[in-house]
Amino acid sequence: MELRTVERADVAGRRVLVRDDFNVPLEGGRVTDDLRVRAAVPTLRLLLERGARVVCCSHLGRPKGKRDERYTLAPVAPVLGERLGRRVAFVDDVAGQAARSAVDGLGDGEVLLLQNLRFEPGEEANDPEFADRLAALADLYVDDAFGAAHRAHASVVGVAERLPAYAGFLLAGEVKVLSRLLEDPERPFVAVLGGSKVSDKLAVLDSLLARVDRLVVGGGMCFTFLAAEGHEVGDSLFEADQVDAVKALLVAAERDGKPVLLPTDVVVATEVAEDAERRTVPADGIEKGWKGLDIGPETAEAFAAALSDARTVFWNGPMGVFELAPFAAGTRRVAEAVAAADGFTVVGGGDSAAALAELGLADRVDHLSTGGGASLELLEGKTLPGVAAIPTA
Ligand code: 3PG
Ligand code: MG
Repeated sequence: MELRTVERADVAGRRVLVRDDFNVPLEGGRVTDDLRVRAAVPTLRLLLERGARVVCCSHLGRPKGKRDERYTLAPVAPVLGERLGRRVAFVDDVAGQAARSAVDGLGDGEVLLLQNLRFEPGEEANDPEFADRLAALADLYVDDAFGAAHRAHASVVGVAERLPAYAGFLLAGEVKVLSRLLEDPERPFVAVLGGSKVSDKLAVLDSLLARVDRLVVGGGMCFTFLAAEGHEVGDSLFEADQVDAVKALLVAAERDGKPVLLPTDVVVATEVAEDAERRTVPADGIEKGWKGLDIGPETAEAFAAALSDARTVFWNGPMGVFELAPFAAGTRRVAEAVAAADGFTVVGGGDSAAALAELGLADRVDHLSTGGGASLELLEGKTLPGVAAIPTA
């Protein structure tokens, strides 16, 4: 499926509303990782070169329909400006009078960033009145917010129903790369899943199981797998209500002859803290009072070996609490193995993207997705609302 992309739009002198995903990590009002900002640049550059009047909009965090200073988009404007090599004006309003005047003041080839869409209750509710106001700011709409494509919000679907709608390069590119994993992966295809919650990942695990040659499971969610295999998991993260579903997945994998690699050793500690007492134990020997916080070294080597001959790799989710140095080794080893794999390598957004960036390996993979939830839902085989809203080419 090819989306109608921004290249096809006649934009000179026209107001173009661009939905970006500038939901970036902030610390003390500073953007600490600008992957999503950089990823938005190609589309914006094309629009500006063609003389559009560009109105960017995004959500940031989850302020729940109310103004909340912690989630102001103001710090993103200078970062975007630097990346674009031109001034980006910011208006502290989403779609009211101040936003309208700011848009009216835009000249050809100028950019404006609106305040956080989620300061307005109508955004997440996809309220028609709010969608009308937002759409009234522009003549055309471009969706480049892949990271929010799984949200049926006003700025994603409502506006696309009201204006001629196009996909930006980021949205179109992400959909193309991720669809390739579903449709035509070169084999062996290995998926590595981690992160804390099985409940978040079961649907994608089910979908991937049908497509991959092997599945590798680490991170907090592996303890529910270990429990499903009958092991004690001590005080590790564990979702009792997911055990049956995990058992069913393991049975299906066995039936289909698909190996599911689970940890054989784990790093356990008494607390989630840098200075907590810790040790490495066999995966079937986690005692009460101890929590598994990383895969062990033997497991890390086995996971790396499982990736070494892969022709296609999808990785989502850290192997442990990698933010704390004593529990980062497993994630680091897997990141290195993904980077070293010869095949086509795709890493899902969020924590795994952050881990890769922190390790300086971000440009060693073929595709670093800007979407966490969106990439997983796409790989579940779901139609994303933000994709469905754009006409095909
Ligand atoms: C993300 O970071 O996952 C996207 O920006 C979507 O944000 P959300 O999960 O708050 O909708
Ligand atoms: Mg999310």
